Formats: sequence, C-alpha cells, structure tokens
Amino acid sequence: MPSDRAAGAAAREIVIEVLRYRSETDLKPLPQAFRVPFTDDMSVLQALQYIKDYLDGSLSFRWSCRMAICGSCGMMIDAQPKLACMTFVRDYYPGPLTVEPLAHFPIERDLVVTVGGFVKKIESIYPYLIPKTQRSLDEGEYLQTPLQLARYETFSDCINCMLCYAACPQFGENPDFIGPGAMALLQRYNDDSRDGAQAMRMDLVHTDNGAWSCTAVGNCSEVCPKQVDPANAVNQNKTKSALDFFLRFLGHPLYLEHTASDGDKP
Ligand code: FES
Repeated sequence: MPSDRAAGAAAREIVIEVLRYRSETDLKPLPQAFRVPFTDDMSVLQALQYIKDYLDGSLSFRWSCRMAICGSCGMMIDAQPKLACMTFVRDYYPGPLTVEPLAHFPIERDLVVTVGGFVKKIESIYPYLIPKTQRSLDEGEYLQTPLQLARYETFSDCINCMLCYAACPQFGENPDFIGPGAMALLQRYNDDSRDGAQAMRMDLVHTDNGAWSCTAVGNCSEVCPKQVDPANAVNQNKTKSALDFFLRFLGHPLYLEHTASDGDKP
C-alpha cells in the first residue's frame, strides 16, 4: 500500500478481525484484530496487504490479478463468500469487519484453503473439448455460429473462485458432491457443438454425488461474481439426467446423444 495512505491520506479507520491459523503453533483457528486506515477506494484485498506490509508480515492469503479474473482471492467477508479484490472496505464501515477463509474447505494457513479436492472435481468432468471425430489441421478452423456459441458462453466465464462451493449447504454436508462450479464447467463443454463427450460426462451427472445431490437452494448463483449461474447448469443436468433415464428405460438409441446439439452448423 502507498505510504501516503498510512501517513495521513486515510480519513477513517476500521477494525478488521482476521481468522488466523498456523498449524505449527495454533491448536485451532482464532480471530486477530487489526486497526486499518482506509480510503474509499481500498479493497479488502488491499486492506490485507496493508496488514501484511505494516502490521503482521506472517499473514497468509492468496491473490494474483487484483481484478476479479484469477479467482484466487475468494474468502468469507462478513460471513459471505466474496472476492477480496472486488469488495470494498468502505461498505463495512464502521466495522468491525470479519475476514475468514472460504467456508467448507480445510484451512491450510490463515486465509488459504486446500484446493486439491476441488481440482480433482474439475479434472473429473473432462474439462476440454473431445471432438466427435478426429480433425486435421488441413480442415481449418472449427467454426461455430453465434447461436452455438451462446449456448455455452455464460458457463465459460467461470474463474474457479470456489465462492459457489462456500455458499452451497449441500457441499458443506457432503464434500464429495461434484458441486456447482464443476457442474457449470461440465455444462460448458456438453453444450459446445464441437464436443462429442457428453455421454462420458453424463455418467458423472447420474451418480449419487452428481446433479441429484443438489437441493436447489440457489446460493451458488447468488454469490457468483461472474454471473455464471451454476444453479442453472445443475438444473439443466437434472433435466438431461431424467431424460437419459427415460430414454434408457425405453431402450431408445438416442439416449446418449440428446445432450449434443448439431443444429445451426456454420
Ligand atoms: S486477485 Fe484475482 S480474482 Fe481477486
């Protein structure tokens, strides 16, 4: 933080209570209060950086882009999952403001949570295009119409910030639930006209920890900083799962193909 802010440019002060946990010394997480001077343009991330630079250099938290793109600064701010870089201290004055690690994830250190389980979920949905047929470079670009792009574009905006998982009561109850973020990414690929792996991904949707684990609370879409609407993705997969079941019951040969839309070929 610029020194002029600390030296007098800040008009107000706020107490920020940060949940601290250092496994080598702490038996359990405990809050620690810091007095932080702030101006109206100071984000919570900048406030944490002020604490680290001027008050306690041992404070640990994740960040990278500072502009709501990398998704690494997710944390609980006054008990709500938010990106620290796009949340402003002024909105919590006079405080105190509480900052805690993302709910429902194991704490690694201070505000840093363990993300290994989330990464495994993302890997499990085959998060890449698997073409229906092999293409060669000689065939040129794999073109799409604007309509084909519009089918999945919203779901491609996910930044993997995990706020939706911290807001999801079902994930809090069952850490094996595939969860809203992975389901949105799954929908992104299943709705892509260039992809041919819908049937593989639907096998995951049908499992006990797939779409039907969702209890339709909708918090995931409320907290999403990119308006990805993962609840919509989960609901669409419930519909597709039910249709799959029905078509399989009938022995219909199309039961594995209905998720793909080949219409509107360029
Ligand atoms: S620092 Fe990248 S999203 Fe906040």
